Amino acid sequence: MNPMDEFIAGIPKAELHLHIEGTLEPELMFEIAERNRISLPFKSVEAVREAYQFENLQSFLDIYYAGAKVLCYERDFFDLTWAYLKGVAQQNVRHVEIFFDPQTHTDRGIPFETVICGIHKALERGQKELGVSSKLILCFLRHLSDTSAMETLEAALPYRNWIVAVGLDSSEQNHPPHKFDAVFHRARAEGFLTVAHAGEEGPPDYIWQALDLLKVARIDHGVRCIEDSELTKRLVKNEIPLTVCPLSNVELRVFHSLAEHNLKQLLKLGLKVTINSDDPAYFGGYMTENIQETQKALNLSKTDIYTLMKNAFEGSFLNTTEKQKYLNELTQWMAHYSSQPTEKIASGCC
Ligand code: ADE
Ligand code: ZN
Repeated sequence: MNPMDEFIAGIPKAELHLHIEGTLEPELMFEIAERNRISLPFKSVEAVREAYQFENLQSFLDIYYAGAKVLCYERDFFDLTWAYLKGVAQQNVRHVEIFFDPQTHTDRGIPFETVICGIHKALERGQKELGVSSKLILCFLRHLSDTSAMETLEAALPYRNWIVAVGLDSSEQNHPPHKFDAVFHRARAEGFLTVAHAGEEGPPDYIWQALDLLKVARIDHGVRCIEDSELTKRLVKNEIPLTVCPLSNVELRVFHSLAEHNLKQLLKLGLKVTINSDDPAYFGGYMTENIQETQKALNLSKTDIYTLMKNAFEGSFLNTTEKQKYLNELTQWMAHYSSQPTEKIASGCC
C-alpha cells in the first residue's frame, strides 16, 4: 500500500451518513433470502452486482427497496448491522451515526420493534466488543405522506432513548422539506435532533427549507449548495456539517466522475465537509475506499484528510467529552505520521 493509502487506512474515522439497509451485501442478501424462503429476482450474487448500474437516485432506490424485502426478523436486522460494524471496525471507524428507514419495513407488515431491536442489539455489541460507538437516526421516506411519517414518529416514541435524531431520505425531487414541517416540529418537541437529505438532486432551496423549517443540525449531501452563494455563506457562518458521499454521488450521476466532484471546492469555501459511504454495498466502497478514491481524484493533502475527519467527529452527536476522546486519537495519529522522516503533515507543504 502506498504511504497516503496507509495514512488513510489507519486514520480514526467517524461515519455520519450511512443507511443500514444500504449495507446489505449481495452474499448476505442471498443468505437471508434463503433462510426466510424469499425468492429473489436474481440468479446469483454476480447477477445482483451486475444490476447495480444506476441512472439517478430513483433507479437506485427501486433496487434498494427491493433488496430490503429479505429483511423480516430481528435476527436479519441484527446480522445486517453486525456485518457492517465488523467491517468498518477494521477500517478504524471509531464512531457511526446510522440511518434506518422503518417505513420500508413496517409497510410490509414488519413490526417497528423487530427492526429497531435487531439494529440496537448489534450496536450495543459493537460498542462492547469492537469499541465502535454509535447513534441511531430514524429517517422518514419523503415519497410517502406526512401522515405516514407522523405515524412512524409515534411508533418510535417508546424507543426514544435509542434514537438521537430524525432525518429525511428517499426521492428528493418534488418532495420538499416543507412537506414534513409539522412532523419535524413534533419530533423536536419530543427531544429529537434533526437532519435531512437536501441538495443531492434537489435545488438549493431545499437546503434553505431544511435549515429554516426543519431546523436541521446537519445537511446530508448538500453538494448543490454551491449554486447559491448566500446559502454557502449561511452554512459556513452557522458551521453546519455537510455529510458528503463521493462514491454515491458518482454512482447516482450527481457528478460524472470523482475528478469533477466539488468536495475540494466546498472545503476551500470553509464548509464543514465530511466524507461518508451512504449505501456502501451498492456504491462500491466503505469509508476507507471513499476517502482513498476521493484523495486520488482530487489530490487531497493529508491536512485536507485530517480536516475532513475532524469535521466528522466535531459534527457528530457525541457529547463534548466523547468528541474530545476521538479528537485526541486523531491528533495522536497525525503526530505519529509527522514523526515519520518522509512525512511532513503540519508544515503546509502537502
Ligand atoms: N436512501 C438511501 N440512500 C439514499 C440517498 N443517497 N438519497 C436519498 N435517499 C436514500
Ligand atoms: Zn443518504
